[in-house]
Amino acid sequence: MSAVPVERTDDLAAFAESVAGCTRCRLSQGRTQVVFGSGNPHAELMFVGEAPGFHEDKQGLPFVGQAGKLLDKLLAGIGLQRADVFVANVLKCRPPGNRDPQPDEIEACESHLFRQIELIEPTIVATLGNFATKLLSGRPLGITRVHGQEQSTTLGGREVMLYPLYHPAAALYTPAMLKVLESDFARIPELLGRSLEPIEPELALVQEPAPPAQQLGLF
Ligand code: URA
Repeated sequence: MSAVPVERTDDLAAFAESVAGCTRCRLSQGRTQVVFGSGNPHAELMFVGEAPGFHEDKQGLPFVGQAGKLLDKLLAGIGLQRADVFVANVLKCRPPGNRDPQPDEIEACESHLFRQIELIEPTIVATLGNFATKLLSGRPLGITRVHGQEQSTTLGGREVMLYPLYHPAAALYTPAMLKVLESDFARIPELLGRSLEPIEPELALVQEPAPPAQQLGLF
């Protein structure tokens, strides 16, 4: 491996340390800890959610609750694991009672996210839900309008593909949305320039397709 990716790893770790003591907004007062993000520092695919919830705040890791379990299953469906991607949020600290991020909190925190993107240098940034999509697209269009529509944009000084997706937490309780999220997810390998491993033909023939939520183990 060349020296460049190693430097990137070190830089990202150093950056995480510097963000751990952030007091740029009121959320620093109620948090257990900063949830910087986790995963592969050289990830080609990065996900950006909204903000840490109760479990994320306690554990210091993003998407460890129910929405995170769904994210893991969606990733497994395209042959990826959490360790292959990097997962971060618009806000690095938990809003009280899981309320929506406030505009001044997003403004205070956004440079942390932009710096992460600059250091990780992903090819695709998949935004999960409205907050990440609006922030990173710089446009007010909501997720219902733009999900599944890749767009080229400049982030962290580089051109990246922005790929808006429904937030897994919203899809957990809305089967129709889950279906759409699954089919948008299924395009990720193609967008990464890869093909999915074909499933074994015998299995494909004998197994009745389960409803999407069942495939995801939700019931
Ligand atoms: N929802 C988010 O947007 N981020 C998390 O880390 C967890 C749930």
